[in-house]
Amino acid sequence: MGENGNEVKNTLSIRDNRTGKNYEVDILDGNVIQAMDLRQIKVNDTDFGMMAYDPAFTNTASTCSTVTYIDGGKGILRYRGYPIDQLAERSSHLEVSYLLLHGELPTQSQLDDFVQDVTLHTYVHENITELFEAFRYDAHAMGMVISGVSALSTFYPEAKNIEDADCRWQQIVRLVAKMPTLAAYAYRHHRGLPYVYPENELSYTANFLSMLFRIGTCEYKPSPVLERALDVLFILHADHEQNCSATAMRVIGSSQADPYSALAGAMAALYGPLHGGANEAVLRMLNRIEHVDNIPAFMEGVKKKEERLMGFGHRVYKAYDPRASIIKRTADEVFEVTGHNPLLDIALELENIALSEEYFVERNLYPNVDFYSGIIYQAMGFPVELFPVMFAIPRTVGWLAQWQEMLNDPAQRIARPRQVYVGEDTRDFVPIGERG
Ligand code: CMC
Repeated sequence: MGENGNEVKNTLSIRDNRTGKNYEVDILDGNVIQAMDLRQIKVNDTDFGMMAYDPAFTNTASTCSTVTYIDGGKGILRYRGYPIDQLAERSSHLEVSYLLLHGELPTQSQLDDFVQDVTLHTYVHENITELFEAFRYDAHAMGMVISGVSALSTFYPEAKNIEDADCRWQQIVRLVAKMPTLAAYAYRHHRGLPYVYPENELSYTANFLSMLFRIGTCEYKPSPVLERALDVLFILHADHEQNCSATAMRVIGSSQADPYSALAGAMAALYGPLHGGANEAVLRMLNRIEHVDNIPAFMEGVKKKEERLMGFGHRVYKAYDPRASIIKRTADEVFEVTGHNPLLDIALELENIALSEEYFVERNLYPNVDFYSGIIYQAMGFPVELFPVMFAIPRTVGWLAQWQEMLNDPAQRIARPRQVYVGEDTRDFVPIGERG
C-alpha cells in the first residue's frame, strides 16, 4: 500500500483531456517509461500517435547500458561499478580499458595478453605517413587524426564484418594501439620533425611520450611521474556514458558502418569546444585573461553572457565533477617535475570566484574535467592543438565499449529519431520567372 492507502503499482496513468481516454503505461526500473507506449495515445484512428519532443536529448534514455554510471547530483562516476577515484589511484589505463571493454577487471595473465596485443599493433601502415604529408604544416592535429582513423578503414576492409566477434576485437585492439601513434605523427608533422616509430619495450603512455618527444636516436626515458600522470588523465577520460561523441559513435555504428568510420565520426563530435575541444578553449581563454587582475572584467563578460567560462558546467554534473578534483591533485604532482604553470593561478582564482558568485552557484556551474587538464598538458610540453586529441586517445576505449554494447543489444536498431514538422504545408511549384 502507498502513503495514501492506495495500491502501489509500477504504472503511470495518463488521461488525454482531448478525448477523455485513460491509458496506463508501465514504469520500468530507473523511473523510465517506454516512449513507444505513448504511440497508443491518439485523437482518432488516423492520428500518428503521441511522441515526446526532446531536442538535445535532455530527458531521453537512448539505451540501457552497463558500462559507466554517473550520478550528476552527487558527483559520482563509476566504470563497470568501480569508483573513478579507486581506478585512478590503483589501476592503469590499459587495465581500465580491459575493464570497460570486457566488463570485468582482468586477471594478471589476461592483462599481460591484452597489453602484449596492444603493443604489437601500435605501428601504422607507412602509407598513413604519406597521407599526413599531404596536410599543410599548420594543420590542426584533430583534423589529421580524424582523417587517419577514417583512412584505417581502407587498410582493414574486413572491419566491415561487425557481426564477427573475433574480427570486432581485432579492430578494437588496433584502434586502442594506433591512436597514440596517429596523434604523435600529427604532432611531429606540425613540428616538421621525423616520425618516431613505436617502441615495444615502453608502456602505453611512455611509448606515446617517446613518439612525441624523442630526438634522433637518443634513448628517451620519460619522467615516471609524467608517465603516471598521463596514465591517470587517460583513465579519467576513458568513458563518460551517453555524451555527444559516444552518441555519435552509437548512431553511426547503428547503420553497421565499420568501427574506424564510426570512430572518426565520434572524434569529430568530440572536437567541438562544448565537448572535448573545451580543454583547448580553456587554455586559449586563460592565455587571453593573461593576469589575475583581468579576471573581474572577464567574469563580468561571462555574467552578461558575452562569453562562456570554458571548462565550467556540465549537462549531467550539477556538483563538482569528480574527475576535476583528481586532476587538480595530479596537477600538483606534475608541477613538482615541470615547474609551476602560472596559468594555474588564474584558473584557481576563476574557480574561487565562480564557486561563490550567484550567477554560477544558481546554475550549478562547477569546474569540469577540461578545466585543469589543459594546464597539465601544457606543463608537460603538449601544444594546445593536441589537447582534444589527448582526450580522444583514451576516449577511444569508451567509444568502442559503447559500440560493442550497442551491437550486442537486441533492442537497438538503426538510430532514426522522429521530428515535429513545422514547415510549409503542400504548395505548387512556381516557375523561376514567376517568383516574387
Ligand atoms: N559559462 C557561463 N555560463 C554557462 C556555462 C559556462 N561555461 N555553462 C552553462 N552556462 C549557463 C548557460 O548560459 C545557461 O544559463 P541560462 O539558464 O541563464 O540560460 C545555463 O548555464 C545552463 O547552460 P546550458 O548551456 O543550457 O547547459 P547545457 O547542459 O546545455 O550545456 C555545457 C553543458 C557543458 C555544454 C555548458 O556548460 C558549456 O558550454 N560549458 C563550457 C564548455 C565546456 O567546458 N565543455 C566541456 C564539458 S566536460 C567534457 C566533456 O565531457 O565534454
